[in-house]
Formats: sequence, C-alpha cells, structure tokens
Amino acid sequence: MATIDAARTVVPAPTRITPGEGAPFTITADTALTATGDASGVAELFAAVLRPSTGFDLHVLPTAPGAADAGGIQLTVDNAAVALGDEGYELTVSAERVSLRARTAAGLFYGTQTLRQLLPPTVDSSLPQHRPWQVGATHIVDTPRYPWRGAMLDVARHFFPAADVLRYIDAIALYKMNVLHLHLSDDQGWRIAIDSRPRLTAIGGLSAVGGGPGGYFTKQDYKTIVEYAAARFITVIPEIDMPGHTNAALASYADLNCDGKAREPYTGIAVGFSSLCVDKEAVYTFIDDVFGELAAMTPGPYLHVGGDEVQTLTSTQYADFIERVQLIVAKHGKTLVGWEETVKAKLAPGSVVQYWNTKSNYAALLKDASAGGVKLVLSPADRTYLDMKYDDDFALGLEWAGRVSVERAYGWDPGAVIPGAAAGSVLGVEAPLWSETLTTIADVEAMAFPRLPAIAETGWSTAGRDWELFRARLAAQAPRWDVMGIAYHRAPGVGWP
Ligand code: ACM
Repeated sequence: MATIDAARTVVPAPTRITPGEGAPFTITADTALTATGDASGVAELFAAVLRPSTGFDLHVLPTAPGAADAGGIQLTVDNAAVALGDEGYELTVSAERVSLRARTAAGLFYGTQTLRQLLPPTVDSSLPQHRPWQVGATHIVDTPRYPWRGAMLDVARHFFPAADVLRYIDAIALYKMNVLHLHLSDDQGWRIAIDSRPRLTAIGGLSAVGGGPGGYFTKQDYKTIVEYAAARFITVIPEIDMPGHTNAALASYADLNCDGKAREPYTGIAVGFSSLCVDKEAVYTFIDDVFGELAAMTPGPYLHVGGDEVQTLTSTQYADFIERVQLIVAKHGKTLVGWEETVKAKLAPGSVVQYWNTKSNYAALLKDASAGGVKLVLSPADRTYLDMKYDDDFALGLEWAGRVSVERAYGWDPGAVIPGAAAGSVLGVEAPLWSETLTTIADVEAMAFPRLPAIAETGWSTAGRDWELFRARLAAQAPRWDVMGIAYHRAPGVGWP
C-alpha cells in the first residue's frame, strides 16, 4: 500500500520536506505514544484523534530515560530547539519510530496536525476503520512565515451556538491557524452576556438578519470556547464593534443614543447608519463596563474595537472616540485591535490594525503607522473574505468585493499588500467570514472550505504560490473533510477526487 506523499498532501505546505528511505512506520495496538511535561496535553489530543478510528487504546506514556532509541511515537518539547522558534516543529519518521520535536507545545501541536495529514484520511473518522495505519519515512522541518494566522466568525448577523464554534475551531486548527476572532456585536445582534448590562442580551440578543431568533453566548459558553481554542493553541479575540455597527446596543440602552431614545431592532443588511453617541459620558461608562467584563473573561492579549464603516461622525469625533476607547482597552490590560479605519486615530505602538477594504485609500496611512510601531493584520476583502461568492453560480454570499475563487484566495503575497510597511510590522493574515447570508454551520463550512486552507497557507508558508501544486494538495484534503462531515464546496478548478 502506498503511503501519503507529504509534498503532495500537506496544507499549509511545510518549509522543508526530505523524503526518507526505508519502510513506513505503522501504528498498531501496541504502539507506544510517549510524551512528558508540556508535550503531554498535545499527545492526549493527538491520541483522541486516533483512538476512535484505529480502535487502539493508545495510552500516552511518560518518556523514559534514553527513550529516544525506543520505538513508537515520541513527542518532545525541547527548550534548546531554538531554530524551531515559537511555533515550528521537526518530524522524523522511520520504520522504527515517529519523532516529533518542537521548542514549544504549540509547535508540537502543529507537528501533530501534519502527522494527521500524513495518515490515511479515515484516521479522522469517528467510527472504527480497518486498515494499516502507515506513515511513510520522511523528515520535515517546518516553521511559519507569520505569527498571526486568523479566522473571523461573524456570530452577530446570524448567531452560531458554542457547539458550532467548537466545530469551526477543530476545522481551522487542522490548518495551523492560531487566532479566532469572534465578531460578537453588530447592528443586528449582541451575542455575549455582560452581567452589568443585561438588556444587551435580553433585547439586543434576540434579533438577527432576516428576523430570526438570534441568541447569545453565556459567560460559560464563552469560557468553553476560549478553553477549547486555547488547548489547540488558538487565541480568541473578541470584537465589540463601535462606534458604528451598534444598533443592537442602541436598541438595548436608550442612553447610548444622542436623542435618548432606544432604536428599534434591525434585521436588514445595510451598514453605516448607526453610532454610539460619542459626546455622552454614559457611552464611555458603558464601554468601560463592557470591556472590563470582556477583558476579565478573555485570557488573550487583545480586544477588537471594530471601528469600521461609521458614516455619521466627523473625522475629529471619530479619532477622539477611538483614542478614548484605546485608553479604556489599555486600562483593562489589553491591546487594541481595530479595522483599518482606526488608523485615522493616533494609536499606541503595538496596536493592531486590520486592513480589509481594497477600495479604500489607507495604504499610505498604514505604512506610516507601521513605522511608528503599529502592527498590521491583512484581510484584503477581494482575497480573504470568505463570505464573498466563489462565482456567479454560487447561491450563498455577497459580492461587493467581487467573486473570490479558490485560486484568488490563494494567489497573493501578504508581503506585498502594504507597500513600504515597516519590517516586521505585518503580523499575518486573517480570513473573515461575515454571516449576512449564512444561517447554518453547513453554510459557514461551504464558504470556508476550501478557501480557508488557502488563506492558512498564505499565512504559514514562505514558498511562492504555485496554484497547480496547491490545488492538488487541496484536493487531497477532500476525503478527510468527507469523513469529518465538513460541508465543503466542490469549487470548480480544484480537480476534486
Ligand atoms: C468590514 O468588512 N466592514 C470590516
């Protein structure tokens, strides 16, 4: 039986693959899976993938002294492996053993995602499968190009419950993404419980695009999501969009409006019409309360403040507002992330600005801000917006940024998006998925797969983009998505099996 060729299969493409010689490694009921310390949690997650499909017990055993010469699958965190950086790994497979080594547990986790893709796709089945579980001899050294490889899910336009979000986390983790940005509020809905402001969920939580029932995450739901993500080395970044995209908050609390009158719930898909009343002190007390609670339940370093598409404020009102919000975010010990419009305000070094609108004129401002220490995350809408239609024939999605074929999602260089950006200022890439037209997790998956792995590769892999090679590797993912039940779109041009 032929084993899987890493160079023709693994997404994102690893940095260096050296095919090995000799027989493959075979996982059997007797295979020892050894790990110690920080490696143990990663080994347990890997074993949890293998157990249902192989039917083997695969207990994780502590690494014994001199164990490097033993057989089995060995996971090691080695602080001295500095060349592997914060997220890299080295995988060596021979007939005797699988040796996976990294400087950090995160790197080790990414190594196990590669190993997963080198096993038959049925390894990802939740039902017992009968077959030899072989991995061909190989040596892979792999480190990411960028430290920020994100996916954004809009749970505001339509709500997706925590179980759906965990499912999405599983899917993005397979492609070594490490940021989950949750768009938690917008005109159409408020999706996170804030104890000091119960009307946000009691009123703002009950609407959605098209008049559906809405919904929201309890604090326990949010904790579950954050912990599930953290175990997979994914940082959750919560976004409360402001000062625009706020109708759900304006409907919940009358005093956030300049006229003191609560707005009606909004279920359409227009943008730009709403704004918090930036001249009222009550608005800043509100933001302080919301970000205080959100910061307390968010272990990651960032709070995303939105800042996009407000059309009812002057430039000065807007900049003053963002600068004040920045202080509130800092007061709660977090770093500000904002959509690209926030670059019009004076942002502290280390703040993160997310580029999205390729039709805007922010490139020069972003370049200058980067020279002052502002960091950039790239989400060019005509490449990374997973809610854009693939083509005219696709039923779901919007089209204001054009059609985004899989080839378009893949064929761009994050290093060339902001000409002249300061060295090291580009943190990475993020693939937003807005949910105006999406009502089920199957809809979400049809938009994200296969384009999300394409974006993941632009963030992870340094090698030039070769569409012919990529589409073959992408097509190789399909049998895995079939057994995982991921409702991917068989987009034209990929050459699906
Ligand atoms: C955006 O698409 N309004 C960030």
